[in-house]
Amino acid sequence: MKKRIFFLSVITLSIALFTGVGILIATDVADEINIKSDAFKAYKKGPVKLAHKKHNVDYKIACKDCHHVYKEGKNVYKEGDPVQKCSECHDALKSKGKVKKLMLAYHKNCQGCHKVLEKAGKKTGPTKKCNDCHEKKK
Ligand code: HEC
Ligand code: HEC
Ligand code: HEC
Ligand code: HEC
Repeated sequence: MKKRIFFLSVITLSIALFTGVGILIATDVADEINIKSDAFKAYKKGPVKLAHKKHNVDYKIACKDCHHVYKEGKNVYKEGDPVQKCSECHDALKSKGKVKKLMLAYHKNCQGCHKVLEKAGKKTGPTKKCNDCHEKKK
């Protein structure tokens, strides 16, 4: 009988620890981000809703597949590091060498991954239709 109570409390404790850790990680990442960069002067398309947390948790996309800080050609971004806006490095108007202009940076990151997965025959996100990502402009 004593053994059984011990066993049960170990399980309860593990569940508490496990979910506790889960909550800590969950609060780190915004659930949804409405991507609408002020950097674009002439805004041709509508903003884009990104299921931020879903990409990370459900689709298992690592933070560093989208966030990067390059040091000597290597991405040294780690989960928990502060995040700068893409527009702070990617100019809205023109590409500077490998640092592509903002629209290309987004399209290469978002559609880029979706296309690779499509080719591999995996479940994926939008690759072509603009309004699968962009909200219709009002
Ligand atoms: C996989 C998602 C995705 C798809 C599909 C997509 N885009 Fe985008 N696009 C984005 C994101 C994200 C941004 C950045 C939006 C921002 O910062 O406001 C962007 C930005 C842009 C911009 C610059 C901002 C503006 O509105 O002027 C243009 C132009 C654009 N996209 C055109 C297109 C066109 C045309 C298509 C279809 C041929 C397309 N996009 C398909 C994700 C997508
Ligand atoms: C599918 C791509 C993608 C993944 C995966 C991703 N992010 Fe993001 N994240 C973005 C985009 C896009 C933005 C908005 C950038 C901007 O506004 O310029 C953003 C914004 C953020 C911000 C600032 C805005 C806010 O309110 O939260 C933080 C912090 C952040 N991400 C952390 C993370 C962490 C930590 C992870 C991994 C646990 C992660 N992200 C995974 C694409 C992603
Ligand atoms: C701190 C500055 C900085 C920020 C913030 C930044 N980038 Fe970049 N990005 C760079 C640099 C530098 C390169 C060129 C890296 C190389 O040498 O290949 C690059 C390259 C890229 C590339 C091409 C390489 C690749 O990974 O496929 C894409 C796509 C890209 N960035 C998208 C984004 C997106 C989307 C965001 C926001 C979520 C973002 N970047 C935020 C500096 C930045
Ligand atoms: C490294 C890979 C990767 C990157 C980068 C990525 N995605 Fe996705 N995306 C996925 C996968 C995988 C799915 C669908 C998985 C599924 O349905 O099971 C998806 C689904 C989607 C969907 C449809 C389902 C949903 O949850 O909304 C949209 C819209 C989308 N992505 C937008 C974006 C935008 C916008 C960006 C860039 C800011 C982006 N994605 C970057 C892998 C990626």
